[in-house]
Amino acid sequence: MSTPYLWWQKGIIYQIYPRSYQDSNADGIGDLPGIMQRLDYLVSLNIEAIWISPIYPSPMYDFGYDVADYTAIHQIFGTMADFEQLLTEAHQRGLKVMLDLVPNHTSSEHAWFLESRSSRDNPKRDWYIWRDPAPDGGPPNNWLSHFGGPAWTFDEQTGQYYLHQFLKEQPELNYRHPEVLPTMLKAMRFWLDKGVDGFRVDVIWLMLKDDQFRDEPANSDWDGQVPHGSLRHIYTNNLPGVHDLIRQMRNLLNEYPDRMMVGEIYMSYADLVKYYGQNMDECHLPFNFRLISTPWQAQAVRNVVEEYEAALPQGAWPNWVLGNHDQHRLATRIGANQVRVATMLLLTLRGTPTCYYGDEIGIENVAIPLEFIQDPPALKQPEVAHIVGRDPERTPMQWNNNPNAGFTAATTTPWLPLPADYVKRNVAKQETEPTSMLKFFRTLTSLRQTEPALCVGDYRTVETKTTDVFAYLRTAPNSDRFLIVLNFGTADHCLNLSQVAPRATVAVATDMVRTGQVDLSNLALAPNEGVLLRL
Ligand code: NOJ
Repeated sequence: MSTPYLWWQKGIIYQIYPRSYQDSNADGIGDLPGIMQRLDYLVSLNIEAIWISPIYPSPMYDFGYDVADYTAIHQIFGTMADFEQLLTEAHQRGLKVMLDLVPNHTSSEHAWFLESRSSRDNPKRDWYIWRDPAPDGGPPNNWLSHFGGPAWTFDEQTGQYYLHQFLKEQPELNYRHPEVLPTMLKAMRFWLDKGVDGFRVDVIWLMLKDDQFRDEPANSDWDGQVPHGSLRHIYTNNLPGVHDLIRQMRNLLNEYPDRMMVGEIYMSYADLVKYYGQNMDECHLPFNFRLISTPWQAQAVRNVVEEYEAALPQGAWPNWVLGNHDQHRLATRIGANQVRVATMLLLTLRGTPTCYYGDEIGIENVAIPLEFIQDPPALKQPEVAHIVGRDPERTPMQWNNNPNAGFTAATTTPWLPLPADYVKRNVAKQETEPTSMLKFFRTLTSLRQTEPALCVGDYRTVETKTTDVFAYLRTAPNSDRFLIVLNFGTADHCLNLSQVAPRATVAVATDMVRTGQVDLSNLALAPNEGVLLRL
C-alpha cells in the first residue's frame, strides 16, 4: 500500500527478546545469527520492524539492561559483523531494525562508572549521582529501587552513596552533568551511522531526578504488595526537565532520514501525551501500555480507547501494546479464550501495534521452578516473585516439536526452560493448521497492511448496547470501511448494528471458519468471538 505515512506509522513493530529467539551456536542462549535464520519467518508475519532488546556487552545482571559498552555487541549474541549482516539482510527484505537504548543507567562495570567510583575527584565522578550519607549514616533519602530495597548503595572506598532505581549493578547517569547527554548522543549516532532505523528508549521518563533529593511522599493507594509502590515517585519520575533531554535526542534523530524513537513510559494519558513534545519534537511514539493494566472488560477497554483518542494532541500518532518482556504473557493475563479477541483489537485499533515475540502463536507464561529463577527482582523479592518475576514471559520461542522446540540444540539446556506443551504449540505445527493462532495473526496483519482503513484510517466507536461487546469502525477515503465487533464475554449475543450498514462481509473471524455475509440487524456473536467485517 502506498501512502504518505511513515513506516513507523503504518507498520507493525515486533519485539525480539534476543536471548530467547533462536540459538545458533548451541550455548542455550539466542543470538544474532539465530535471528538472521528467522528473517523469512519475520517477513511472513507482515511486520515492518523488529525491535531487539539489548545486545550490548553487559555482565547480564539485568539481562542486558545493564550496558557495559554502548557501541559494541556482546559476544554471547555474536559480533559486530553479525549485527551488520543482520541489518543488511533485514533491510534487503524490507524490514527495519530498532535497537534498545538504555540511557538512564549503565552497568556498574562500565568504564565510566569504574572511573566515577575510583575517587571523589575523578573527572567522571559527577557523571553518576553520588550523595553523602544521611546524618545517621544511612541512605541520603527514602527513594526506592523498582527491584526491592533502597535506591542507594554505599561505596566504602569513597564514602558516598550512588543512585540506582533498579539493581545496584545499574548506577544512574547524571544528566545534569554537561558531558553525559552528548556522550549518549554520540552512542546513538554510532548506530544511526550504521543504518539502524530507530530506538526503543528504556525508562526515558526517569532520566532526570530532583536536584534537591527530597524524600518521596507515601502512596496512600498502595496495595501493600510490591514495596516500590509504597511511595509516590514525584521526585524521580517525569520531571519537567526530562523533556529537554528528549528534544535533544530527537534533534539528533532528525539529522537522519526516516528514523524514530519510541519511549518506554508508564503514565496517565494526560502526562504521557506530553512526551510527543509540544511541537511534536520529542518521542515519535511514547509507548501506550494502558491495555496491559486495564481490566479485560469491553467497557473498560472502550473507555481507554476513547480516553486515549481524546487525549492525543494534533499531529500525534497513536500506538498500542499488549505485551513485552516485563509483563506476564497476554494469554495468561486475560485467559487463552480471549487471546484472539485481544489480537484482533491490537491489530485493528488506530495506531502502531507493538507485538511481543511468541504472542503470535499464543505462548503462555511458563512456570519456572524455583531453582531455575533467573530474574533479579524475583530473586531479590521472593515473596512477590509471582508478581514481579519476568522469567515466565521470556522463555525460548517454540519453533517446532524437536527437542528444545528447535530453539537450541537437542543436547543443550536452554537458559530458561520450555513448557512441556511446546509440542502442541509451535510455529511448525501452526503453519500446517488452517485455523491456527499463527494463521489468524497473519490474516489480520495482512489485512491491516493492505487495507488503508485498517492501517491508517479514522476510528469511531459504535454503540452496541451490550456490556460485553465493544465495536468500532475504521474508515479511510476511497477505501473499504471495516467494522470490528469484539465479544469480551462468555455469553452469546445478538446485536443490531444496522445503524452502521444493513449488511457486511466477514473478512476474518476469531475462529477462522466463519465467512460470508452477515445481517447487521441481527449479528450473532458466540462467546469470546470477534469479527472483522468489511462494509
Ligand atoms: C525497563 C526494561 O524494560 C526492564 O526490562 C529493565 O529491567 C528496566 N527498564 C531497567 O533497565
